[in-house]
Amino acid sequence: MSYTFLATAAFGLEGVAANELKRMNIPARAENGGARFEGTLLDGYRANLCLRTADRVLLVLAEEKVRTFEELFQLVSSIAWEKLLTRDASIHVSGKCVRSQLMSVRDCQSISKKAIVQRLMQKLRVNRLPETGVVYPIDIAIVNDLARITLDLSGDALNRRGYRTWNGEAPLRETLAAALVDLSPWRKGVRLYDPCCGTGTLLIETAIKAISRPAGIRRSFACEKYAFMPQAEMKALRAELTDSYDEQTDFQIAGSDINPEALELSRRHIKQAGFENRIQVKQQDLRTLQLDGEPGVFLINPPYGERLSDQKSARELYREIGLLLKRHPGWKLAVITADPAFERSFGKRASKKRRLYNGRLECEFYIYE
Ligand SMILES: C[S@@+](CC[C@H](N)C(=O)[O-])C[C@H]1O[C@@H](n2cnc3c(N)ncnc32)[C@H](O)[C@@H]1O
Repeated sequence: MSYTFLATAAFGLEGVAANELKRMNIPARAENGGARFEGTLLDGYRANLCLRTADRVLLVLAEEKVRTFEELFQLVSSIAWEKLLTRDASIHVSGKCVRSQLMSVRDCQSISKKAIVQRLMQKLRVNRLPETGVVYPIDIAIVNDLARITLDLSGDALNRRGYRTWNGEAPLRETLAAALVDLSPWRKGVRLYDPCCGTGTLLIETAIKAISRPAGIRRSFACEKYAFMPQAEMKALRAELTDSYDEQTDFQIAGSDINPEALELSRRHIKQAGFENRIQVKQQDLRTLQLDGEPGVFLINPPYGERLSDQKSARELYREIGLLLKRHPGWKLAVITADPAFERSFGKRASKKRRLYNGRLECEFYIYE
C-alpha cells in the first residue's frame, strides 16, 4: 500500500532534501516546507533513518480545503484512526492557521481532537479512551484554507543525531551543515578542512557522509512505537542499514579554531559522534594557517559580524580567508555568511552562489572552484 509523506525541511533546503530522497531511490518533489514522496511505511522509516538535511518525516493523512469547523470536523472524521491509533493512544493535536477562514488554532485543535476521539470510540466500541499509552503527535496545518492532517513519524527533530549536548555560541544546525556539505565541491575521498570549526558541526556532518553512515542510525524515532508500523520489517531494515557501511572507512577531515572553548566542545561532539582520533582539531588562527600535502576543500562558516561592532573584524577575517586560499593553490573553498559585502572583502567573485537561510538570517553560500 502506498502512503504520502512530507519530509519537512528549512526554507531553501527543500530541493536538497528531495535530492537526498532521490538518491535513496525514493522519487520525491520539493514543495514549500519540504519534500513530498509516496511510498510504503517502510520507506517512511527509511527516510527517518537516512535523511541528513530534513527536519522531520510526516505521514500525510488527509488534505482538503476547509472553510468551516464542520468541514474540518468531517475531514478529520474521515481518516481511519482506528487503523492508526491504539485504544490507549495519547492523542496530541497541534495546529496552525495561516491566511485562512479558520483562524483560531485552539478551536481547530479541539474540534479535530473531538473528531478523532468520537471516531475511535465508535469504531473500537468503547466509551472511554484512557490516553495512557504511546504519544501520537498529530498536526492540523491550515494554510490558504487547505487543511493538511499529518502524523509525525520522527519524534525528536532529525537534526538531533545524538552527538550534540550543548550548543556553543553560534553553531550551525546539523541539517543545514549537512546541506552545505552536499552543496559544496567536496566529494568522498577528497580532503576537507574547516579553519573556523567552532563546535565541529561541519566536520562531523562531512564525516557522516564520508563513511555513508545513515544519519539517524544511532537514535530512535517516534514511529518505532506505533502499532500500525511494520515493526519486524523496520528492525530488519535498521539491521541491514547498520551492516551497509563501514565505520572505519578512511577519510581526511580536520579543522581548527582560534577559540579553545569551542575546540573543547568540538572534541566532545566528535567523540560523541564516534569519530574520536579520526577527526583532528587544533587551536590555530586561520591568518597563519598553512597546510601541507594534497589540496582539498575548505568549508567555512565564519562569524557574520551581525552586530555593527563586529562587522569590521568579520570583514577583515573574510580578507584573510581570501589570503588563505591564495596560500593554498589547488584548494577549493565554500563559505556561508549573511554579510552581503563578503565577496568585496574576500577580494574575488565566487564561481557559484546560492541563497540559504541560517535560522532567520538570509545568507549566501559562496563557492570558489
Ligand atoms: C559561526 S562560528 C562557527 C560555528 C561552527 N560552524 C559550529 O557549528 O559550531 C565561527 C567560528 O570562527 C572562529 N574564528 C573567528 N576568528 C577566527 C580566526 N582568526 N581563526 C580561526 N577561527 C576563528 C570563532 O572562534 C568561531 O568558533
